Amino acid sequence: MPKHQLHVSQEERIPAVLFVCLGNICRSPLAEAAFRAEADRFGLDIHIDSAGTGNWHAGSPPDPRAQATARRYGIDISHYRARQVEPEDFQRFTHIFALDDDNLRNLRQIALTGHRAHLSLLMDVVPEKVGAAVKDPYYGADEDFEETWRDVTQAACALAKMLAR
Ligand code: 4NP
Repeated sequence: MPKHQLHVSQEERIPAVLFVCLGNICRSPLAEAAFRAEADRFGLDIHIDSAGTGNWHAGSPPDPRAQATARRYGIDISHYRARQVEPEDFQRFTHIFALDDDNLRNLRQIALTGHRAHLSLLMDVVPEKVGAAVKDPYYGADEDFEETWRDVTQAACALAKMLAR
């Protein structure tokens, strides 16, 4: 099966999707927001969350620049709170998407054996971007957050279409 084709089995009828970056304050909250919007648009019943492989920002709201980016597109993410990914997430979620390779590697290290979640890079759901990372905008400028938003909305749209089938 090509990497970008997802399959939800009978036992996994209600998909549960987790987006994972490093701090859970920039990229994965934007991915969560973009995918919530797409899931609403497609009328999908999906459990959606985001988390970070690191714990430095646990309990914090998204970075103000991420909040401002989502707000520009009409989405309020100020109530989101960062949390660290935990081994149980691999049972709770059917799909876990890492925003880049470092986070994918770290996720593989903490994955429980025999886990339920399908684990891949987020951009793998976009056929022409298989293997691509969503660049970390934390040390960047506003344009970098715009680029993050473009990437995650493209992936969110592709993912919603796949899960709507
Ligand atoms: P994120 O961005 O992984 O997209 O949330 C970062 C947030 C914080 C840090 C690095 C990246 N940090 O080094 O604190």
